[in-house]
Amino acid sequence: MTQQPQSASVRSVAGDSTRSFTTVVAMTAALGGLLFGYDTGVISGALLFLKGTFGLSAAMEGTVTSAVLAGATVAAIFGGWLADRFGRRPVMLVLAFLFVGGALLSAAARSVEVLIGARVLIGVCIGVVSFVAPLYIAELAPPARRGALVSLNQLAITIGILVSYIVDMTFADSGAWRWMLGLGAVPGLVLACGMLVLPESPRWLVKRSRLDEARTVLLRARSEDADIDCEIADIREDLALERNAPGWRAFRAPAMRWPLFIGIGLAILQQVTGINTVIYYAPTIFLAAGFHSASASILATAGVGVVNVLLTVVALRIIDRAGRRVLLLTGTAGMAVSLLIFAVGFAYGGALPGFRWIAVLSVMAYVGFFAIGLGPIFWLLISEIFPLGVRGRAMGVATVANWGFNLLVALTFLQMLQALGPATTFLIYAGLSVVGWLFAFHFVPETRGHSLEQIERFWIERRPVREWG
Ligand code: BGC
Repeated sequence: MTQQPQSASVRSVAGDSTRSFTTVVAMTAALGGLLFGYDTGVISGALLFLKGTFGLSAAMEGTVTSAVLAGATVAAIFGGWLADRFGRRPVMLVLAFLFVGGALLSAAARSVEVLIGARVLIGVCIGVVSFVAPLYIAELAPPARRGALVSLNQLAITIGILVSYIVDMTFADSGAWRWMLGLGAVPGLVLACGMLVLPESPRWLVKRSRLDEARTVLLRARSEDADIDCEIADIREDLALERNAPGWRAFRAPAMRWPLFIGIGLAILQQVTGINTVIYYAPTIFLAAGFHSASASILATAGVGVVNVLLTVVALRIIDRAGRRVLLLTGTAGMAVSLLIFAVGFAYGGALPGFRWIAVLSVMAYVGFFAIGLGPIFWLLISEIFPLGVRGRAMGVATVANWGFNLLVALTFLQMLQALGPATTFLIYAGLSVVGWLFAFHFVPETRGHSLEQIERFWIERRPVREWG
């Protein structure tokens, strides 16, 4: 009897160290998300001064802005293959160094061509890290905490965006765009140091038959009472089921159809519901809504950034209890309603002095609902629903769709504003959010609490989505 409290405390110390190990791994990998957010957010502020330094034409401005998105779209195509072939860790490590190189190169650019080249390089890194980071975290995380740990990556994206707004504001007076772009090297360097010491994903190790190494990693990443041998046996069993169709041919397997449909569908919906019109163009939107000074619009934009971070924290805290579906359905419904209020406000009250506050509040509500739903859950689900044998490549395919539609929305938004006016433009995004809700309701399964291997088997058994939860 006297020994019981001691063994309980020993177990709790072991449990604590396991928890902190997985948390440290996830937080380090999530620096990839921080870079994603920072590098996509920073350009809007830097652009004002780049125009002066390089005498950019409107077309060139568009090229500088979309260089990252184009690089990201293309890179996601081959990034998945690299992660499956060489492992998650080496890919993350090389990316970290390239991030540092890209940031320094863009900060030192003496010609617009070099600047565009550096931004494309950063885009390549963002495209790959955007899915390899969640993939790596998901494969290390215990099922009960996977939602929160993977979503740390989304939290880091939102923090990166917010930091980029703050950095832009800090250097706005001096116009020091080289600092704005160059500071991205700092998280890149920390990520590189972290990846030098972090382990490879245990699932990738099993796939490569490096069982002893996989066991060592799992021993550190699981609680004392976890059955490591059983977990390894489960992974091997699933791999054996996949062996029949190796490589890209595996994409044609019947068990791949639904996950691909859901992954690509959510990828497109995450973008066509318009989030980045706000993230990239919020000051323009607020000026159109009646804010007269640029500084007031920029401040309102920073407010949007804060809401994005805070609501992502809320999502993170409840995602493993409430489940993915509830958050996705609440999020898309809330996005549709807030966009509707914004669009109707523009149509009928755009000229009223109080309208700008309705605009700010509805845009904040919209971003908040994105942050608890489509934001984290898209990246989480695509790290969970694909079979191990092709997980990297399949996530790459969904990610290509995500970046491709991100680019499309970024390129068409300003034209839509001009041709259709803000009310109709945002009504279209509201309609697409309703499509998002219907899609989630009918097709998205509940993955909470299931191991990645169970999820894979559910597809093979063709278990109806409604019966997963
Ligand atoms: C999306 C990005 C978006 C960000 C905003 C991410 O999940 O993929 O396109 O800029 O969320 O927080």
